[in-house]
Amino acid sequence: MEIKQKLKIRRCQMMIKRTRQTRNESPGTTEKKPRYGFIAIRPFLTIGIVGVAGWMVAITGILRLEGLGRWVTLTVAGMIGIIGTWVAVSYIPLYFLVLRPRGNENFWANQFTKHGISGKLVAIDAGCGTGQVTIEVAKALPDAHVTGIDIFKGMSGTSPGQPTRNAKIEGVSDRVTFKKGNLLDLPFPDNSVDVVTVGSVLHEIDSDENRKAALEEIKRVLKPGGYFFTVELLRDWRMILAMLVFAPVWKTGKYWKELLLNAGYSSLDVGLETRMLNMGVYCMQK
Ligand SMILES: C[S@@+](CC[C@H](N)C(=O)[O-])C[C@H]1O[C@@H](n2cnc3c(N)ncnc32)[C@H](O)[C@@H]1O
Repeated sequence: MEIKQKLKIRRCQMMIKRTRQTRNESPGTTEKKPRYGFIAIRPFLTIGIVGVAGWMVAITGILRLEGLGRWVTLTVAGMIGIIGTWVAVSYIPLYFLVLRPRGNENFWANQFTKHGISGKLVAIDAGCGTGQVTIEVAKALPDAHVTGIDIFKGMSGTSPGQPTRNAKIEGVSDRVTFKKGNLLDLPFPDNSVDVVTVGSVLHEIDSDENRKAALEEIKRVLKPGGYFFTVELLRDWRMILAMLVFAPVWKTGKYWKELLLNAGYSSLDVGLETRMLNMGVYCMQK
């Protein structure tokens, strides 16, 4: 009995010690790694759950029903199962081939070096989502202040909470601010911003007219000579093979070039980052 009690006390002491160690290792926060993908995966998970439900109904139909009922249930529920699973699973290549590389450490640093951009700058990352690009821009421009702006609806969560936590974990929170706002109505005065980055956002704007309005709005806030970068995944056969579900959403390189060339910027530089999928990196100067 005594030995049992001693062992219990010893286990409690070990637990307290471990908790204290964890707190000391990460002062101010218990999170150690930033979370960029998890919020965006929510709608895909929901669709995946609907897909699994479809499979279950289809299997139940095979086991329990007979005649026409069996075939109707099998067809309808089977289709829901196949489409739901396809959409949910297609998030995996989207995340690893598109979202992660775009937030790659060297990606933004290379872009800024290429165009000689550095110094005490005012930068905006419009459509910042969970802040992956915003934070990498802040790291690549160590004297700049970067404001991440997003409508914070659906994919990116409903508030700037997650990107703000990510910036804290990544050690750039003193130079990064997140605000709820719309790319079509940026909360900045005319000619006040040095750099605007937009990471896979323009395709989410619902019409060509609104995309043109977004490009106009970015031009309004940029200082003369200021830079605007946008990154879009381009539709081609590899893209179609990898993620058929996104094919109608993504546009071709020709589409973006035309839209951007007509937006009235003084120059357009196109870089094609070819990994498994084609990614268009466009840099424009006001
Ligand atoms: C595909 S996510 C990309 C997020 C982030 N740029 C990244 O690279 O991880 C597109 C983001 O654009 C945001 N968005 C869409 N339309 C917007 C608008 N009109 N104004 C601001 N943000 C917008 C969405 O809320 C979403 O977070």
